[in-house]
Amino acid sequence: MRLLVTGGAGFIGSAFVRRRLRATDDSVVVLDKLTYAGNRDNLAECEREPSLAARFRFVRGDICDPAAVEPLVAEVDAVVNFAAESHVDRSIIDDAAFLRTGVMGVHLLLEAVRAAQHPVRFVQVSTDEIYGEVAEGLSVESDALRPRSPYAAAKASGEMLAAAYYVTHGTDVVITRGANTFGPFQHPEKIVPLFITNALDDQPLPLYGDGRQERDWLFVDDHADAVAFVLDHGASGEAYNVPGHGRRFNRDLTAQILEMLNKPWSLVRSVSDRPGHDLRYAMDGAKLAHLGWRPQTALEDGLAETVDWFQSNSDWWRRAKSGDWASYYDEQYGWRLAESVEA
Ligand code: NAD
Ligand code: DAU
Repeated sequence: MRLLVTGGAGFIGSAFVRRRLRATDDSVVVLDKLTYAGNRDNLAECEREPSLAARFRFVRGDICDPAAVEPLVAEVDAVVNFAAESHVDRSIIDDAAFLRTGVMGVHLLLEAVRAAQHPVRFVQVSTDEIYGEVAEGLSVESDALRPRSPYAAAKASGEMLAAAYYVTHGTDVVITRGANTFGPFQHPEKIVPLFITNALDDQPLPLYGDGRQERDWLFVDDHADAVAFVLDHGASGEAYNVPGHGRRFNRDLTAQILEMLNKPWSLVRSVSDRPGHDLRYAMDGAKLAHLGWRPQTALEDGLAETVDWFQSNSDWWRRAKSGDWASYYDEQYGWRLAESVEA
């Protein structure tokens, strides 16, 4: 297959590209804007190893730019769309880019797929956050979408547009709804890499509220493999939950990270909560399991691999924590840490 992977220089997209090139004979073109979250180094092995490089091409560009998108879509069999602004806290500070990429960008990709002269499958990588917080039980694919943050609203809009193209235009669309993902190469704005890297530097770990919010943790290789599985086997017009392999309260996850690093709980500070903070996400994975896929990596194993990776790759995460990082960190955490209390 010839694939166009949009947002393929980010955390999950780059894992998908690295794994897909190794597992198949597919060719892959990555289209990525290289925002603060995109990093070409994440794809270094694809450019370095001749057997991968022969089937790989990187194009810097924006999914909102028809001149970049249309010629690339015209030459592939499938588009796998990871491109998005992905951090909830940033969507609370300013959501313009979230809507632009998450709604208009998805629309432009769908239009390019529709205009292609041959069949093109479109995979929209979505999220469990579209269900909103789930007080109890498990979300199933037929549940209503009740997004509660600007990030989640943009993601819900993107996937609803994709579903509408399936119904109205017969576009071959499949949707994945992944759980909270963690692993190597994740930008240190997210809780797992933020807490690992802050702890390595003996800096405070800003835990929102009482830390009793619950997330279901999915290792990045599993998430990438689930997207590949749905690309290959998903039924057109369907959405598939991709649950994780371990639900935890944030404070328990934090304790586990500190234990692996042999760092004290006293680093953890309880800070003012995220506005509109979703208390709990939990998905039923039966639909995807029935099709033949379930997550493989236990949280403990994935976390140990992730901690090792961040310990061995400080150049990578120190670069991610440079440039605009200081002003973001100050805006998000400066006042919170100043008012923080013991966790
Ligand atoms: P990320 O922020 O690490 O990567 C996003 C990538 O998209 C970056 O490389 C960025 O440069 C690129 N990008 C952003 N806007 C673009 C644009 N307009 N045109 C082209 N490229 C653009 O995100 P991630 O964590 O790898 O998430 C990937 C996808 O998976 C996102 O759609 C996200 O909503 C979804 N998702 C993430 C998680 C998670 O826990 N991280 C879970 C479920 C779903
Ligand atoms: O659930 C899937 C989603 O997971 C993806 O769609 C998003 O792209 C991804 O960013 C992630 O969203 P979350 O908001 O759940 O991830 P984050 O790492 O930002 O936060 C995880 C939990 O940790 C959440 O309950 C908020 C809490 N948290 C987070 C940060 C950054 C803290 O307590 N302190 C922090 O500093």
